[in-house]
Amino acid sequence: MDQIFGKPLVTQEAMRARIKELGKQISQDYQGKDLLVVGVLKGAYVFFADLVRVIRLPIQIDFLIGQNHKKTGTSGKSVKVWTELTEKIEKRHVLLVEDIVDSGVTAQSLVAKLMKKKPASVAVCALISKPANRKVEVDLRYVGFEVPPTYVVGYGLDFKQKYRNLPYLAKLDPKLVREDTEA
Ligand code: IMP
Repeated sequence: MDQIFGKPLVTQEAMRARIKELGKQISQDYQGKDLLVVGVLKGAYVFFADLVRVIRLPIQIDFLIGQNHKKTGTSGKSVKVWTELTEKIEKRHVLLVEDIVDSGVTAQSLVAKLMKKKPASVAVCALISKPANRKVEVDLRYVGFEVPPTYVVGYGLDFKQKYRNLPYLAKLDPKLVREDTEA
């Protein structure tokens, strides 16, 4: 698998070091607060596991899982339907952990969905951000790395459900993306 990707865009060591810094910052910011850390699956699973282990607070965890459903009608478009949280969030501080924020649409809609349940606060922590691709404004309280507007895989991120297990972040060969979308 490593032969396909060549040099990592972000190495495993750099990931670990940055995630440790994020954990330290989050631990300071939420000291003495009731914090629920919510992972957005599947993409955030690797980052989430690393992050919660460097947060030095008695947090609780939960997950949101998105599934694509075909819209009825002729548009052929699909909509993402999210599972419900199992923990109550009313009056609690929620930290939403995302793998990547690209256009910002997913993060923005998830924050809006959570806000309806009247939490004390909702903040977003994204491992990767692609600011050049942003279409809607989204307030990212914590960001691991900013990358150029290119397709990336590894460290939980997929291309057609593959490469999530790559232990570093790599740029996906645009030729590979093109071939796959044209097929
Ligand atoms: P959004 O455009 O910010 O709503 O991002 C939607 C979703 O697209 C993310 O949660 C990822 O699952 C996926 N995504 C966007 N860019 C990439 C990428 O470079 N690699 C893998 N997945 C991506």
